[in-house]
Amino acid sequence: MAKARSKDIDIADLTRGQAKSELARLAREIADHDRAYHQKDRPVIADATYDALRRRNDAIERRFPDLIRPDSPSLRVAAAPAEKFEKVSHAQPMFSLGNAFSDDDVEDFYNRVRRFLGLDRETLALTAEPKIDGLSASLRYVRGDLVLGATRGDGQVGEDITRNLRTISDIPQHIAAPDLPETMEIRGEVFMSHQDFAQLNERQTKEGKPVFANPRNAAAGSVRQLDPSITASRPLRFIAYAWGEMSRIPGRTQIEVIDYLRDAGFPTNPLMRLCQNVDEILQAYGEIELQRSRLDYDIDGVVYKVNRLDWQDRLGYVSRAPRWAIAHKFPPEQAITQLVEIEIQVGRTGALTPVAKLQPVTVGGVVVSNASLHNEDEIQRKDIRVGDMVVVQRAGDVIPQVVKVLQEKRGKSSKPYVFPDKCPACGCHAVRETNPKTGKPDAARRCTGGLICPAQAVERLRHFVSRNAFDIEGLGEKQIQAFWDDKLVTQPADIFRLEKRQSDGDRDLAAREGWGEISAANLFNAVNERRAIGLDRFLFALGIRHAGASTARRLAKNYLSIDAFLKAVRAAQQPDSEAYGDLVAIDGIGEVVAQAIVAFFQEPHNNEVVKELLTEIDVQDFEAPSSTSPVAGKIVVFTGSLEKMTRNEAKARAEALGAKVSGSVSNKTDIVVAGSGAGSKLAKAREFGVEVLDEDEWLSRIGD
Ligand code: IVH
Repeated sequence: MAKARSKDIDIADLTRGQAKSELARLAREIADHDRAYHQKDRPVIADATYDALRRRNDAIERRFPDLIRPDSPSLRVAAAPAEKFEKVSHAQPMFSLGNAFSDDDVEDFYNRVRRFLGLDRETLALTAEPKIDGLSASLRYVRGDLVLGATRGDGQVGEDITRNLRTISDIPQHIAAPDLPETMEIRGEVFMSHQDFAQLNERQTKEGKPVFANPRNAAAGSVRQLDPSITASRPLRFIAYAWGEMSRIPGRTQIEVIDYLRDAGFPTNPLMRLCQNVDEILQAYGEIELQRSRLDYDIDGVVYKVNRLDWQDRLGYVSRAPRWAIAHKFPPEQAITQLVEIEIQVGRTGALTPVAKLQPVTVGGVVVSNASLHNEDEIQRKDIRVGDMVVVQRAGDVIPQVVKVLQEKRGKSSKPYVFPDKCPACGCHAVRETNPKTGKPDAARRCTGGLICPAQAVERLRHFVSRNAFDIEGLGEKQIQAFWDDKLVTQPADIFRLEKRQSDGDRDLAAREGWGEISAANLFNAVNERRAIGLDRFLFALGIRHAGASTARRLAKNYLSIDAFLKAVRAAQQPDSEAYGDLVAIDGIGEVVAQAIVAFFQEPHNNEVVKELLTEIDVQDFEAPSSTSPVAGKIVVFTGSLEKMTRNEAKARAEALGAKVSGSVSNKTDIVVAGSGAGSKLAKAREFGVEVLDEDEWLSRIGD
């Protein structure tokens, strides 16, 4: 039986994997149609067909909300992001909480509630649960469908962030539960875990974007994005803990309702518990506080709520807070200590990060001896100096921070801190580059040592063998790391010397853990296959800052041979030279890129690496796209699976022959090469009357 294609399968029958690829396909196709419609004003399918695609996309997303893609069509309602959020009045106000700062405050609260209710012997049970440090949101469901999501705003009026909240996989798009209330407004906290926060900041740094100070800011910044695809790319979480307007309340106590919500599919806090008296409340507080440092998210206190809902009703609200609940805050996690030293750490990409080495001090129950100083500007702004007494805080962050310096405690001999301009790991220059997008200096100072810097070498080598570079099969990050650890490969040329070392009896690769005769031979073959490499791949592999695959291609196309390229960049060392002028004049290469290229070849160690490498490999001249080939200047689309070549190969060959390879079929397409299983693109080609060739016809057309 032929395997059913995902696009033909009923949504209810889709597996997760099929749903994922189906959503990818729909995102691509719908985007193509949107472009045809909005930008070219030339729709290629009937409106009804288009609507059906969108409906299918939405239905799959409803079944698998966690698979919603950042580029999902459902997040691009009218293509452009909104200019501002719409205001929404909350059907019931979103209250804040009164605070308790001590055990006495809690006892006062407990007794106040008892008095208000006129309780005598009866037990007053309260729930205790972590107070999550995020931002609250209200989710409105009608007959089980999420129809509106809003921020708290001023408690009366918030902002409509439905499209953003829909991208959070913790938030159900649809709920089904027994006796589901027709209207439900579920409230809870949107937040970011420590791990996700750290990864997000790492990504921000890599992309030259500002980092967030703590997970709360990161969550708030992510949820209030006008473009929901940005929210979708941020790992947000949600925990439900309260409700607003409900057509029926599914329980008689706080615990019952929360359990109902949990069973209906909302994440709730497993640390919530029921306490029967003040002692149990304070015990719960102590236990949650103890767990605090082990939790993967920030909490800043414990919230107590009267469990019986009829009592909550009687207690009601005072000004902006309920009488039936209170937040017992944790003491601020700050301490004063001495900054003993500023250590500069070098990251995998060469960024120099200053870290404060502190006289160990207990902050909120945890001993702290390091604190982040972020970057050079931050040290200057706070005028942080070695020897200073500083206020350290363990805020949202897992990494403690230096909040401020106690200037009055500073000694007379203290001197401003001078940030090093040499990398502590390798001694090479460390520079602050200009961000090509903003034109401003980067926040991070970076080591220019590249491959010879031990902090960066593995990352550089990994890049060297990666797909668009040397693409050496069987040589991934794991192997590179292991070879580096054993000093078997410390620079690219070493990769090409592995086999010789083996035959010289220097190192036996086959005897290494995880390797055998066959895998070693396979690796040598894969390495040898790459001894001849195109100039563009070679340039990309060097990992020159700002020189990505397309820049490398532009350079290759312009200089054609490695000799011409090296001669030109050496001559371009002077900014007023003709060679430099030629370099900047290349289409798509601006000052920033040109300077990065020149700077790379100014470093002797980089030239050494290139020289060594060239003794092992043969860099082939750039194959100029032919202008006489039968496909020169033609727009070609490959679809379906090809048998005689990979998609990448086919693309490279077509481009070498001067064709332009496109991913989607339009009325401008000249040729569609359809392999087996070609689907919608083939159909579209027929619709447009575009010439369709099978793989063999294509090969004979290009004379292969
Ligand atoms: S209950 C009517 N429970 O704290 C009571 N709030 O200071 C509604 N918060 O705006 C709130 N964790 O953003 C409640 N477990 C929790 C909470 C919590 C965090 C936040 C919420 C609220 C603020 C009040």
